[in-house]
Amino acid sequence: MSGIDEIFRRAKEGRPLFVNREALRPEYVPATLPFRDAQTKAIAQVLAPILRGSKPSNLLLYGKTGTGKTAVTNYVLSKLKAEANTSDLILAYVNTRLADGEYRTLADFAKFLDLRKEKQIPLTGLAIGEVVDRISDNIKSNKKKVVLVLDEIDYLVKLFGDDILYAFTRSGERLAPGFLALVGISNDLKFKEGLDPRVLSSLSEEELVFPPYTVDELREILTERAKMAFRPSVASSAAINMCAAIAGSEHGDARRAIDLLRIAGEVAEREGLSEIDESCIRRASDKMEHDRVDEAIRSLPVQNKAILLAVSMFNGGTNTGELYIAYSNLCKKIGVETLTQRRMSGILGDLDLLGLVEASVVSKGRRGRTKKIQLLIGKDALEKTFSEDTTFGAAN
Ligand SMILES: Nc1ncnc2c1ncn2[C@@H]1O[C@H](COP(=O)(O)OP(=O)(O)OP(=O)(O)O)[C@@H](O)[C@H]1O
Ligand SMILES: [Mg+2]
Repeated sequence: MSGIDEIFRRAKEGRPLFVNREALRPEYVPATLPFRDAQTKAIAQVLAPILRGSKPSNLLLYGKTGTGKTAVTNYVLSKLKAEANTSDLILAYVNTRLADGEYRTLADFAKFLDLRKEKQIPLTGLAIGEVVDRISDNIKSNKKKVVLVLDEIDYLVKLFGDDILYAFTRSGERLAPGFLALVGISNDLKFKEGLDPRVLSSLSEEELVFPPYTVDELREILTERAKMAFRPSVASSAAINMCAAIAGSEHGDARRAIDLLRIAGEVAEREGLSEIDESCIRRASDKMEHDRVDEAIRSLPVQNKAILLAVSMFNGGTNTGELYIAYSNLCKKIGVETLTQRRMSGILGDLDLLGLVEASVVSKGRRGRTKKIQLLIGKDALEKTFSEDTTFGAAN
């Protein structure tokens, strides 16, 4: 008998476990954001001057992923919007990763200024400088008072540099009597290194840190979300504790905690269970790790993949010399060019930046320095992805 009958039987018999799946979606913004009072107030304090027509300080928000930066900022913006009752007051929000490029970032911003409607800024075609000029002229001549939130600003800076930021942070007098205050959000502090010092000091007039959530805080956040999302008694406190503990094991990431609970609920529902048990959560966690690894690996160039696979052959870490031998053998086996050890080291650095391996320099006393290299992702998940890869499928 095929498994398909069993799947259909379970689907018919099982009661749905969710009453409101949306409440566990990443985009969902809850009405209150517990444990973020201090950050909510601090952002409100910085932006409040705009209500009486004064320019707020620029603000830089940072903190690890899933610590509530986007949720809190959007919450404050919506409150501010409700208070602001003049049309020359503009609260713009652009995610620079989703916009994916300088032009699209500016074009998305222009929508908030109604410049797109006026067909002043087409979807493509103008030079960046021209777009910046049109935006600046529009702010100036209409005396607009603008706050622009640039979420995931590190993407913009890493991929396209800081030209736009330079233009906007230096443009004070050009915009008067209008103004533009910037709020930058990032989960990666390294992006600061890519900024002109003048841009950095201007952008970080005010800074605010979002700390990771503790496991106890994650537990409370999950409890609230679970109440909205599931029928009563689907997510026991033991299940919630386990999700909070897993999500808090690296750093307190609320997104990961919420995703884990949602996926565990989906697993339980598919199995026709009446509640989420430990095995559902384990499977959900494995699936998330696999998806994360899969996504990160699939888009890598073939040499980066080969080096990553070579790293995974060593349990408990290795060094550059050993790794180079393993990598060279692997290249021969699968028939791709072998790079020099120096180039391999460069690529290791990229893999380190992506969080796939750790390649830290350790001192060996008089014998000089070497790299301690180890895998940072689950080996099972990695092997599964590689086994589905056309070049590497036969290699391991
Ligand atoms: N204090 C909180 N209470 C309830 N839910 C929260 C809280 N903080 C964050 N969340 C939820 O966790 C998820 C992730 O939060 P958010 O998107 O704000 O993270 P972030 O800091 O912007 O992360 P990233 O750096 O990856 O963009 C969202 O679904 C959000 O609603
Ligand atoms: Mg965010």
